[in-house]
Amino acid sequence: MNILGIETSCDETSAAVVKDGCQILSNVISSQIKFHQKFGGVVPEIASRKHLENICWVIEDALRKANVGLNKIDAIGVTAGPGLIGALLVGLSIAKSLAYAQRIPLIACHHLEGHMHAITAQGIKAPYPAAALIVSGGHTSLYLLKRQAKYELLGQTRDDAAGEAFDKVAKMLHLGYQGGPVIDELAASGNPKAILFPRSYLEKGSLDFSFSGLKTAVWYYIKKQNIDFDKDFKHIKDIAASFQQAVVDVLVNKAIMAAKANKVTNILMAGGVACNSQLREQMQQTAQKEHIKLYYPDPILCTDNAAMIASCAYYAYLRGDRAYWSQNAYSNRPLEE
Ligand code: KG4
Ligand code: ZN
Repeated sequence: MNILGIETSCDETSAAVVKDGCQILSNVISSQIKFHQKFGGVVPEIASRKHLENICWVIEDALRKANVGLNKIDAIGVTAGPGLIGALLVGLSIAKSLAYAQRIPLIACHHLEGHMHAITAQGIKAPYPAAALIVSGGHTSLYLLKRQAKYELLGQTRDDAAGEAFDKVAKMLHLGYQGGPVIDELAASGNPKAILFPRSYLEKGSLDFSFSGLKTAVWYYIKKQNIDFDKDFKHIKDIAASFQQAVVDVLVNKAIMAAKANKVTNILMAGGVACNSQLREQMQQTAQKEHIKLYYPDPILCTDNAAMIASCAYYAYLRGDRAYWSQNAYSNRPLEE
């Protein structure tokens, strides 16, 4: 069964064709980063306009690369939310039009459920039960995956998402947008113990997160140091590495705590920040010590992409989920509803 996936929730216009939920025939991702860069973050209005400009050729390219005609697509899966409303509506509208014209089912996917299906898109069987850490630019949440499509929210950020903290700290260090990949790269040659930034664990046993204190601590540190951003490369690398270490320590600690508290032996990690090399390495080492099996997608499937949406839609299709033509986009909605 071939599913065409469409994802336009933020600043990536993406379309993919996935066979039987587990075989990626194509996954076209057109990033808008360069248009948002000079503003230091995603500008919603620009995102919507760029999606409009790109969505048709991205879908055509995905079909061409998959060597599958539209008449061989059995269903369409699209991200309905959460995300930027204007951006989501572009993907949702074209998904509805194509599904209506082709008389095939439309499946509306939750973006976070999509992230959790990045591994199934790659052909890895979803682990149940598992603790899932979804860590991206818009979300930092821990879920208990009880079984397919049964999620329980265990904790989430009370302020900034981890990816947002990466992006903001990169901005403070004059590293531009998007911050995560640059900090990841610079941190590799910096000293993570150079500066002891605070780790916020909140109340004992809490599985919530908070990154705004860390962000402020980095801000005050930078202010005090009077850094020359064109010259003090060693210092900048040390700040990047020390900040990254503080984020990673908390994410690893809480993910392991979530698994142990719920007596599960699987952890699934997904979302843009799950690309982070230090996070992948430290989570792997810690999980191994705790006899927990760790699952995470290839980096290209961690950040926003339509293959994960197509895979998510496949399982939803098998469960009998179908969207009505009146399906709307939503900027926020809990996954567990
Ligand atoms: O999942 P995603 O593409 O979009 C959202 O749904 O938010 O995640 C984007 C976020 C950005 O904040 C970006 O800085 C972060 O993921 N990111 C990283 C890395 N690659 C992307 N953060 C840390 N290390 C990375 N290597
Ligand atoms: Zn995402």
